[in-house]
Amino acid sequence: MNISVIGAGTMGNGIAHVFAQGGYQVNLIDISQEALQKAVATIEKNLQRMLKKEYITKENLQSTLANISTHTSLAAAVANADLIVEAATENEELKLKIFDQIDEVAPEDAILASNTSSISITKIATATSRPDKVIGMHFFNPVPMMKLVEVIKGYSTSDETTRTVMEISSALGKIPVEVNDFPGFAANRILMPMINEAIATLQQGVAGVKEIDTVMKLGMAHPMGPLQLADFVGLDVCMNICQVLQSGLGDTKYAPNPLLVNMVTAGKLGRKTGEGFYDYSHGGKELIVSKSFL
Ligand code: 3HC
Repeated sequence: MNISVIGAGTMGNGIAHVFAQGGYQVNLIDISQEALQKAVATIEKNLQRMLKKEYITKENLQSTLANISTHTSLAAAVANADLIVEAATENEELKLKIFDQIDEVAPEDAILASNTSSISITKIATATSRPDKVIGMHFFNPVPMMKLVEVIKGYSTSDETTRTVMEISSALGKIPVEVNDFPGFAANRILMPMINEAIATLQQGVAGVKEIDTVMKLGMAHPMGPLQLADFVGLDVCMNICQVLQSGLGDTKYAPNPLLVNMVTAGKLGRKTGEGFYDYSHGGKELIVSKSFL
């Protein structure tokens, strides 16, 4: 089975990594050659990390890298694909354009999956002539480590497409969970209100950043506290998903907290910009004085 992954960013390189590690031939596609080179270097770094922790062998590392080829031409890279996983920027207009293009050049029976975290699969499917073969395959960051794949059935997704994607996800060593296409699906419908509430708890002065994260890490056995996780996911992503929940479900309880909105406006997006609820600018992770936000 041939896999094509569109987009070489954090999610795209992680998805290419797990398919290649699962023994599939993967074509990784991006418009930027530089992004492709960076993605392969990241995959190698993450494989080395896994080798060090003895999750994989040296042979696994080598065969994984050998299974990945990179492309800047969409048509050539999807010509023989059985499954195409789109992991481009989370922008509806862009995704509709990409699905329109893939539909033109991919084999007729290829399944077209999107790694979207919040855009309607039913809507994405309207850009194609095969809505029964369009599905959501939502991976979690960091993709090589997180077991879950949220498999999202659009309104027209066929049972056969769903079954195939559930089987492929299991073959990757992941645990797939089938959900229906509603705003935020299941994962972000539950996760983002929790993160937003943690931000409200900070904004109202109930507790500080470290205290809130410690409560959730030690009291609820979460591997990361919600504010640390927000920094990890990206505060812009969190805000956008809250807005999708608010508009899609028509309830102001999902509105992003004003502190979250302010931080995004100020360009404090978390790890990727070097600062969010914590400071990552010096390699380490320091607490930002939470009072400055209040
Ligand atoms: N590949 C890529 N990244 C890896 C990795 C791997 N094989 N192993 C670890 N990481 C990364 C992190 O980025 C961080 O990077 P750094 O070293 O460069 O700072 C590193 O994890 C920390 O690694 P550690 O070895 O110190 O930590 P652990 O291996 O013990 O655990 C973890 C790391 C698995 C990330 C754990 O902290 C965890 O489970 N955190 C929660 C993650 C989570 O909830 N993810 C879901 C986010 S929501 C989402 O993705 C949906 C989207 O739609 C918003």
